Formats: sequence, C-alpha cells, structure tokens
Amino acid sequence: MRGSRLTLLLATALLACSLSVLSVRGKEGECSSRGLYEGEFFSGIGKIQYEGPDSTNALSFHYYNADEVIMGKPMKEWLRFSVAFWHTLRGDGSDPFGSGTKLWPWEDASLDEMELAYRRMRAMFEFLEKLGVDYWCFHDRDIAPEGASLAESNAMLDKVVELAAHLQGETGKKVLWGTAQLFKHPRFAHGGATSPNASVHAYSAAQVKAAMDATKRLGGENYVFWGGREGYHTLLNTDLKLELDNLASFLKGAVAYKDKIGFKGELLLEPKPQEPTKHQYDWDVATTMGFLNQYGLSDEFKLNVECNHATLAGHSCDHELQLASAYGKLGNIDANTGDAQTGWDTDQFLTDPKEALLVAATILKQGGLAPGGINFDAKLRRESTALVDLFYGHISGMDAMARALRNAAQMLEDDVLPGMVKDRYSSYSKGVGKRIRDGKVDFVELEKVALSSPDPIEDLPSGQAELYEITLSRYIK
Ligand SMILES: *[C@@H]1O[C@H](CO)[C@@H](O)[C@H](O)[C@H]1NC(C)=O
Repeated sequence: MRGSRLTLLLATALLACSLSVLSVRGKEGECSSRGLYEGEFFSGIGKIQYEGPDSTNALSFHYYNADEVIMGKPMKEWLRFSVAFWHTLRGDGSDPFGSGTKLWPWEDASLDEMELAYRRMRAMFEFLEKLGVDYWCFHDRDIAPEGASLAESNAMLDKVVELAAHLQGETGKKVLWGTAQLFKHPRFAHGGATSPNASVHAYSAAQVKAAMDATKRLGGENYVFWGGREGYHTLLNTDLKLELDNLASFLKGAVAYKDKIGFKGELLLEPKPQEPTKHQYDWDVATTMGFLNQYGLSDEFKLNVECNHATLAGHSCDHELQLASAYGKLGNIDANTGDAQTGWDTDQFLTDPKEALLVAATILKQGGLAPGGINFDAKLRRESTALVDLFYGHISGMDAMARALRNAAQMLEDDVLPGMVKDRYSSYSKGVGKRIRDGKVDFVELEKVALSSPDPIEDLPSGQAELYEITLSRYIK
C-alpha cells in the first residue's frame, strides 16, 4: 500500500516537472535539481494502521478506525481531520526566548525559497498519505514565500498552488480551509483590515482576494479569518468605532468577492481574545456574534472555534462550542488545548479524555461539522525534535477524538445524562412552562400564576452537579 502510494507521489513530482509548475528558475532540466523529489521525507515510517486499544505500537491508531460506523456515519466523516501546514510543516520550535530546534529534512538553507516551498508541499502530501488524513489547511504565506512586491508574492503563490492542486488530483487529498496571514509581516504591525493606515487595509484586501482565489482553486471547503492583529494595544491611539466599521466593510468585501468568483465554501471567523494584541475584536463566540449581528453579517459567516482560544477568553472549549452550536454557527473546530499553568496559546494536541468527550458530544448533537472539520492547529513542544514526533502528536490527537467520539455516541445513545438534563427542564413542556416556550404569556399572566401558586422555594429541586459528574465519568473510558 505504502509502496504504491509513494510511487504515485514520485510519478506526480516527475509529471509536475513537465508542467512548468516547478520551473521557477525558468530553466529547462531543473527537474533533476535538489529542489525536486528526492525520495521519502518520512523514511522508515509506513502508513499508520488501526491496531486497536491493546496494541503496544505507538505508531498505530488505538481508537481511530476511519471507516468504522458510529451513529450512522464513518468516523472519518464525523471527524474530518485536517493537518495545519503552518505548525506541522513550518513550525521550527522557535519561541520568544530561543530560535528553532527542529531540523526537518525538507528544510535546506542552500535552496531558494521556491524550491523549499515545493519540497514542503511534497512533504505535506507524504505526511497526509502516511497519517491517513484527508484534509489540510494553510495560510497563503506558509505555503509560498513573500516576494519583493505583492505582484511577485501572488505569482509565487499561484505556482505553489498549482503544485498543490496537482498533488491533490493524484492523492484525493482536499483543502479544509485556506486563510491569509495578515499578522506576521511588519506592515501589519497596527492591524490588517483595522490598520489606521488605509494603504494597509487595501493591501490586506488584496492579499485576502488572492488567498480566496487560491482556496477556490484548491477546492477548499471553507475560508477562515483569524484577526491576528485586528485589535489594539492601547485605546489612547485607537478610534475603536472606525476600526470596527472598517473590519465590517472588509468582511462585506470578502462576501462580495466570494459571490463574484462563485466560491461555494463557508466563510468562518475565528475568535481569540488576545495575543498578539492586548485586545482582539473577535474576543470570543458571544462577542463575535454580537459584531456580526450589529453589522448585518450573521447570515454570511459561521465560526471556527479554537479550544485554546476559548480558554484564553476565560471559557471552556465546551462552552464556546455549545454557544456557537446553539446559534447554529459552529462551522469548524481548531482542535488543540492549552496548559492549565500557562497563560498563553500553547497550541498543544488535545488529548484530555474529558475535554475531548465534551467536544465530541457537541459534534454528534449538531449532526456533524461538514463542510467544516477538525483541524489540528497544534504543534510539538519545542524540545520534541524527532521527525517521528510529528506522527506521535497527530496520532495522539486523532485517537483522543476517536475515543471520545465512541464514548460520546454511547453517552447519547444511553440517554442517561441527556435524559437527566431533559428532566431538569421538564416544567417547560407542560402548563405555564409550555406557554412561556410558545410565547403565549405576558407579565400580567405570569404574575397571576405566581400569586396563585406555592412559593417555588418550597419544592425547588437539587441541581446535583456532583451526580452529573459521576454520570459523565462513566463515559470517560
Ligand atoms: C499610509 O502610511 C504611509 C506612511 O505614513 C503614507 O505614506 C500613506 O499615504 C498612508 N496611506 C494612506 C492611504 O493614507
């Protein structure tokens, strides 16, 4: 299996040579240069197989069995896993205190930026193939370098996208979502769409336009906006109302461009409260929904909820997912987790069984995430420097969600915990409760009910949080 797929990738790379995709230096015969396919990047690692919970092989799935049917759908359709190009291919382990620690085989300082971009893209497809994941996500500037001008950046992006489209055609892999990186380059120091400088706003729009084109070209199923610098460091120098108005008009522009090019994917906003800015406008699900409603944009957008962003906002991931789902706006999950003792976005793989169980329960209850999925916006620890660690990280995240999916399905099918919640609200299914739900009572009638009934304190039931915890723990297995 592995052999035939690798042959396919090799054939793909060779074919790509004849397609001009790789002729960035414009010379014939470059296809034999070091920038092109040289063999496996993840040598010695085969396709990861499901071996079941008793296997002692860490390079196997213990719970993720892609085609196993859970509540009427194969696991892979419930979970729709995606690998994030930025962390997995580009993450070098650097942090504010130290430089990169990873020496990945596709990185080679002697090569030019475009050759490197092609190598990374091939490494991505080899990784997806070996991991058995169908989707990937990218920022424009992760997959292609920044040129000397916007036009040059666009041209380089087009070339890398051409290779990616080719590799997708050969392997059947798909883009879950694309996005534009409007936070890394110094020009975005004051923001992108919310920059005080109109030239930066225009540049940002141009970059999003190109990233939307790239996402459409790759058949992407969603397009994400994460406002990495859409916020402020001090209100003293900030016209808050003007910045919010500009963010809204920017998003309206994106909607109009989506319609213009016939992009059928979902547009998603990704809440995050702070980091890198002190205050980001898309603080959390509630704030983001308030913004969308205020500007008449709520029909056009759903949300991409990231677990570690939820905890940075002082919520649990479960809270943010349930709130987004309650609004009919849960479009995608960036599955990761923070560290309870660390106050920043550590982007670790989500492996906590309880957190994963609650995530899976919301996915099942809303009938799935499609066209969204679960993107591993997660990275290795800085000191994890072996290539195989990339597999361990993703396997740990996939198995945690697969295990949680089975357990959540069992929890919903048993109907004990959901039944307890239903009972707790049973007073709303009859009598005055039903009339409240149906919107058929006013305060005058409610007062009559209150005056003619015993004081509710005489018969107020226990909330029994502890019993709920015990009941939940039966499904953490
Ligand atoms: C953006 O800032 C630069 C530098 O101050 C300035 O030259 C330019 O005119 C500004 N753009 C606009 C549209 O005002």
